[in-house]
Amino acid sequence: MDIKTRRKRAWSRHGSKDIMKDERILKAMELMKVAERDEELTQLKKKIMEKIVGYFYSYNFTWLGRPIIQIPQDIIAVQEIIWKVKPDFVIETGVAHGGGVIFYASILELIGGEGKVIGIDVDIRKHNFREILQHPISKRVILLEGDSVDIRLVEKIYELCRGKNNIVILDSLHTREHVLKELELYSSLVKKGGYIIVFDTIIEDLPEGMYPDRPWGKGNNPKIAVVEFLEKNKRFVVDKEIERKLWFTVAPSGYLKCIR
Ligand SMILES: C[S@@+](CC[C@H](N)C(=O)[O-])C[C@H]1O[C@@H](n2cnc3c(N)ncnc32)[C@H](O)[C@@H]1O
Repeated sequence: MDIKTRRKRAWSRHGSKDIMKDERILKAMELMKVAERDEELTQLKKKIMEKIVGYFYSYNFTWLGRPIIQIPQDIIAVQEIIWKVKPDFVIETGVAHGGGVIFYASILELIGGEGKVIGIDVDIRKHNFREILQHPISKRVILLEGDSVDIRLVEKIYELCRGKNNIVILDSLHTREHVLKELELYSSLVKKGGYIIVFDTIIEDLPEGMYPDRPWGKGNNPKIAVVEFLEKNKRFVVDKEIERKLWFTVAPSGYLKCIR
């Protein structure tokens, strides 16, 4: 393939002509494919991910002052997706301290337009509720308290988001059953070109017994739910390109792109 065609393809993937003028970016994209087949690197990445999870690394960060329980790599990936999709709504199940919802809202604010975030959590602690709603970006955030698979709550979300351009982010209860139910209930909200992001699929790739105090673990986690969901639902595929460049992610096979 000649350089012009390569550039054209790369541009359409990244949505910006300017960045692709840099030959090193093209080279890096090619090297990522080489890196994917690098067995030594694959083993190193696996080991580092085990350490990251074991040391609670994802609990170290904040976004505009709110704790966000994510690793920086995934935060960058979500930013790229929000920019690309420019959604009307980002719907997140699992709010915790609110770092995620504040992050999505801040990117929507920078994009402009009317984009909003809906955050759902079964238990939004009083101080978190207060901090999120008093945050400078709170005008873009709607918080709903309840079980993310409670049908009345889901109906409320459909009333707000039906027919809109939506991104769904699943980060609540990480059991297979719960995530599969969420996928079934929320996937119709996503249109072609949109994404469902399923966090903590990494659980399946970690050694046995890493979550002794949790209802999830190897064989019962978001990745198992994703595999079952994708067997039946042909509208979504795993976006492997995102994963390839992240190297470290808590969502392997969890970036699901809607293709029809
Ligand atoms: C990993 S934290 C979410 C982190 C957050 N997304 C962030 O970016 O910082 C998981 C959250 O899911 C919530 N949760 C657990 N079970 C739930 C359920 N059935 N429905 C909705 N939320 C649930 C918990 O209360 C907890 O706050």
